[in-house]
Amino acid sequence: MAKTPTGKNNSGRGQRDLKVKVKTARGRKISSTRWLERQLNDPYVKRAQVEGYRGRAAFKILELDDKFRFLVPGARIVDLGCAPGGWLQVAVQRVNALGEKSGKKIGTVLGVDIQEVEPVAGSEVHQLDFMEDDADQKVKDWLGGKADVVMSDMAAASSGHKQTDHLRIMALCETAAYFAFDVLEQGGTFVAKVLAGGAEGDLQKILKQKFDKVAHVKPPASRADSSEKFVVATGFRG
Ligand SMILES: C[S@@+](CC[C@H](N)C(=O)[O-])C[C@H]1O[C@@H](n2cnc3c(N)ncnc32)[C@H](O)[C@@H]1O
Repeated sequence: MAKTPTGKNNSGRGQRDLKVKVKTARGRKISSTRWLERQLNDPYVKRAQVEGYRGRAAFKILELDDKFRFLVPGARIVDLGCAPGGWLQVAVQRVNALGEKSGKKIGTVLGVDIQEVEPVAGSEVHQLDFMEDDADQKVKDWLGGKADVVMSDMAAASSGHKQTDHLRIMALCETAAYFAFDVLEQGGTFVAKVLAGGAEGDLQKILKQKFDKVAHVKPPASRADSSEKFVVATGFRG
């Protein structure tokens, strides 16, 4: 029977798939009721609880890594926009940052977020606005050398205006990409969240000059009703 990273049973068999309905309560907006209902019925939210991940986002990086295999033992990882820490947890396990896989190289995981992050064993985390003028230099100083993977799940809180959200996320993604060009080891990987909306084509052009392969992927854990997808650029040319 399949075991989870925390050793629990992941078969899900025997559990009845009951849909939870949430009643609208006085003082709660309809949008909040819908959000609550979606959370309670989301299988990835349930899996995250069972498997000990800090959020359902962990499954997106697990699925991307299952496809592209960039989180290998010994790799040096930078995680931009790492709160609450699901990607950090996955990275720590897969790069062997705690040295739990005997005989395998030990990797490192460095995370930053504008919000405070509860420490994740095996990683180093800092609170930082990555859009600040000298943010890239600060991260370079903490990193103290090259990285094998730069990954960004950064996203500002939704404004409710699709085009504004798209432009904001693309600005975060482009800043992450230029940082990656500075710190990536030759052969390295860049992974970033983008929102479909037009401007992602410009970024793709730049990435294609710098990497051997550039793919746009929507992992199964990414909600179907979201325009979110991920760019995965592999084989950094240096
Ligand atoms: C979707 S969450 C990341 C989830 C994370 N990958 C995980 O698995 O827990 C997006 C994060 O981007 C962060 N963020 C947004 N703008 C940022 C900025 N300018 N600098 C640093 N982090 C930022 C947010 O604070 C938020 O925690």
